[in-house]
Amino acid sequence: MSSRGNPLFSATFLALLIISLTVALRKWHFTLREKGFGDAAPNVDLSGEELLQQLNERRQELVPFYTTSNRQQLAVFSSVNPQKSDTLGGTTPPVTAGSAIGCSELSGMTVVDVLGAGYTKTVLKVVLQQGITVALKSVNEQGADMRSCLEDFRDPRGCQELVSFKLRKEIILLQRLQHTNIVKLRGQCQDSGLVGGIVAVLEQGTPLQMIQLLQSPWEERFRVCFGLVRLLQYLSQSPLGSVALLDFQPRQFVMVSGELKLTDLDDASVRGPSCQTDSDCLLQFPLRNFTFSCSAHGVCEGLNEMRNLYNAYRYFFIYLLPHQAPAALKPLVDRIMNTTGELKQSVNETLGAFEEVLHVYKSGLHLQNLPPSIMEEFAAVKGMRAVGNMQYRCWPSYEQQACVLSVHNATEAAYVCSSHPECTSFSLSNQTTWTGRLLASFRSGYSQMLPDVSSTVYVKSTKALPAML
Ligand SMILES: Nc1ncnc2c1ncn2[C@@H]1O[C@H](COP(=O)(O)OP(=O)(O)OP(=O)(O)O)[C@@H](O)[C@H]1O
Ligand SMILES: *[C@@H]1O[C@H](CO)[C@@H](O)[C@H](O)[C@H]1NC(C)=O
Ligand SMILES: *[C@@H]1O[C@H](CO)[C@@H](O)[C@H](O)[C@H]1NC(C)=O
Ligand SMILES: *[C@@H]1O[C@H](CO)[C@@H](O)[C@H](O)[C@H]1NC(C)=O
Ligand SMILES: *[C@@H]1O[C@H](CO)[C@@H](O)[C@H](O)[C@H]1NC(C)=O
Ligand SMILES: *[C@@H]1O[C@H](CO)[C@@H](O)[C@H](O)[C@H]1NC(C)=O
Repeated sequence: MSSRGNPLFSATFLALLIISLTVALRKWHFTLREKGFGDAAPNVDLSGEELLQQLNERRQELVPFYTTSNRQQLAVFSSVNPQKSDTLGGTTPPVTAGSAIGCSELSGMTVVDVLGAGYTKTVLKVVLQQGITVALKSVNEQGADMRSCLEDFRDPRGCQELVSFKLRKEIILLQRLQHTNIVKLRGQCQDSGLVGGIVAVLEQGTPLQMIQLLQSPWEERFRVCFGLVRLLQYLSQSPLGSVALLDFQPRQFVMVSGELKLTDLDDASVRGPSCQTDSDCLLQFPLRNFTFSCSAHGVCEGLNEMRNLYNAYRYFFIYLLPHQAPAALKPLVDRIMNTTGELKQSVNETLGAFEEVLHVYKSGLHLQNLPPSIMEEFAAVKGMRAVGNMQYRCWPSYEQQACVLSVHNATEAAYVCSSHPECTSFSLSNQTTWTGRLLASFRSGYSQMLPDVSSTVYVKSTKALPAML
């Protein structure tokens, strides 16, 4: 990958990096030797060497992220410094500037919940003194990564450092890759007194619950898939090049206000596999294999992007997209399922197909065959809202104890009401979903109507009539 920035700057930076790594390595070496003498175990020094080698490899892995020239790297760089540092503000504040959260803001925090824990990291929900709620990501001391390191090397400090590199990598990536569908880095802190190592301060989300998502309206499931495709489009042309998510599973994502966001980036890879012939460019999945061509530069063309897209298909689209899609959108959705399942189109073209679905859905073009006469069965009462607990449940409702569905307009709502035997009225307010569709509340009756300028109640005349007499 070529450096696009000032070459002198990059060279100076690299030199600084190497000096710092050397110093850090010496320090580790020293610590390990000291321990070695204490234990007097002959093999400790050997495994110490191996740990040093692994630490060095992890450092090497971070180098490409610094060298793709960007002044933000300075901020990241200084976090290699073992002293206390909260460096997000750095020289070039990223988007999160102004609200950057560092060690001092974390000092008065209260831990309120555990949001998640994986092989490598633990995520806590904390409330800062200023009342802001954030997610705090740190090394999982009880995680599988830490445990296997301790088994191999029996060096708690060395292992802490080794595992921390994954979190460091994630922090750098979160600084360099900014997108609506990537969790926002709100700050960081390195302070051994706090949680023993480096922590990332993230916007708080909720872990992705696939079961819950499966039960939500198609519109919300489509939103998740659409967000994913926009993310993949960004990753395919990111400031770091084409990024592949090697560990691509629902648990790497969280939801923030209905929007899907990537949170686990430690397994992201910036380089495509290198190759000599096309046969080196094989992409294997349990049910399908794909081959790509090896470019003149010796990289597999499009492999990173297509790996992400097929994973999106097998972990998300299959479960979320076809099920309960509006009948008129089915052909478009089926085509997306087919082109992604067979990797027949690029991420770019797939995004285009998603945008087309969204356009048709938003514009109500798929409803053109609704009988307009259906409205004649309903009497509109403007400026009123129905109350009383004569609600019924329907599926998949936006509210658990009631029947609330999204509609394009009153005609579509009338059509829905006519198809539910319980429905005798519905109301529309100015509340909308993410696509701008209206939320309609369907009822089996009401005890009274109250004035509400933003609401209209539509009463089914044939059923309402006897009650009024
Ligand atoms: N910003 C956040 N808000 C809420 N929950 C989060 C957030 N970030 C992560 N989580 C939860 O914490 C879990 C662990 O985080 P993460 O995936 O980064 O750790 P990990 O050790 O790399 O996990 P894995 O073993 O799955 O690779 C996630 O699966 C997710 O459910
Ligand atoms: C994929 O390729 C591997 C290695 O060549 C082979 O063993 C496997 O059977 C192939 N799988 C499918 C589904 O074609
Ligand atoms: C795509 O369509 C072709 C032709 O209709 C069909 O044979 C194939 O099984 C489909 N693939 C997927 C993944 O849906
Ligand atoms: C994807 O689309 C964008 C805008 O439509 C275009 O600028 C870009 O070059 C396309 N990328 C590829 C790989 O086709
Ligand atoms: C609702 O939208 C459909 C489809 O666009 C249209 O045919 C119908 O006239 C609209 N009804 C109202 C009340 O605007
Ligand atoms: C709906 O209308 C009411 C009354 O006009 C207003 O107070 C409220 O902010 C509106 N809500 C939305 C989501 O537009």
